[in-house]
Amino acid sequence: MSVQTAPPVGWREKLKGDNYFLHKLHSLTGIFPVGYYLVQHLFLNSMAAVDPKYFNAVVYFFNEILPKPVLWGMELFLVILPLLFHSLYGFVITYHGKANIYRYRFSENLAYTLQRVSGVYIFVFLIYHVYSTTISHKLYGTDIYYSGMQAHFQNPLVVAFYALGVIASSYHLFNGVWNFAIRWGIVIGDRAQRTLHKWCWVGFVLLSALGLIALAGFFMHEAPAPPVSH
Ligand code: HEM
Repeated sequence: MSVQTAPPVGWREKLKGDNYFLHKLHSLTGIFPVGYYLVQHLFLNSMAAVDPKYFNAVVYFFNEILPKPVLWGMELFLVILPLLFHSLYGFVITYHGKANIYRYRFSENLAYTLQRVSGVYIFVFLIYHVYSTTISHKLYGTDIYYSGMQAHFQNPLVVAFYALGVIASSYHLFNGVWNFAIRWGIVIGDRAQRTLHKWCWVGFVLLSALGLIALAGFFMHEAPAPPVSH
């Protein structure tokens, strides 16, 4: 009697099917640390609207006061690696998924499509954004204080690109919160799901507003001289 063994499964085959563990990890990293970082980032940036001194103090704290190993550890483990995993596995999901216009309501299919379109937009936005801020600052000493960001926003196309980046990110996060709560079995009943859906819309509007206020903050004040770095 011959024993039949299953043919070896290559990485292409594994990624074709929906990997239960990776998909759950994908939705979890979208909330923490990526989503958490976004809320904190837009909140700290909104200091630009309150007073440029506060915005400068935040940038100064991260770049000049925080010990470098702590900063690099935070950047690597709380920003870069989770963001890379979340984006790359997001592309795998997008590549294999299909919106189903027959089984689901139009609004559900629209949300499904918008989640993927916003993800791709944010990916492009982040390459430009992180290169023109953090990376350029580290490589060439580009000014990323209030004065530098204000100069950056003199181009209306950059402002429009950022405004859409903020709205797309807020939508992506809050539609993600809704998907997360269902995928992890946190909200089960129909009523609870509808209630959460409404709160996710509120979250999306509030976070978009916070980001747009941060952006508007660079048109409200005269720029103080950037702090001297050492
Ligand atoms: C009002 C809009 C925004 C402004 C003014 C802004 C400003 C900045 C600044 C100044 C930095 C450099 C921080 C530093 O190196 O000390 C930065 C980095 C970064 N931003 Fe934004 N940002 C905005 C929107 C966004 C959005 C919508 C996202 C997410 C989708 C985002 C994600 C990031 C990431 C991932 C980094 C790199 C963080 C690091 O490696 O330390 N930003 N941003």
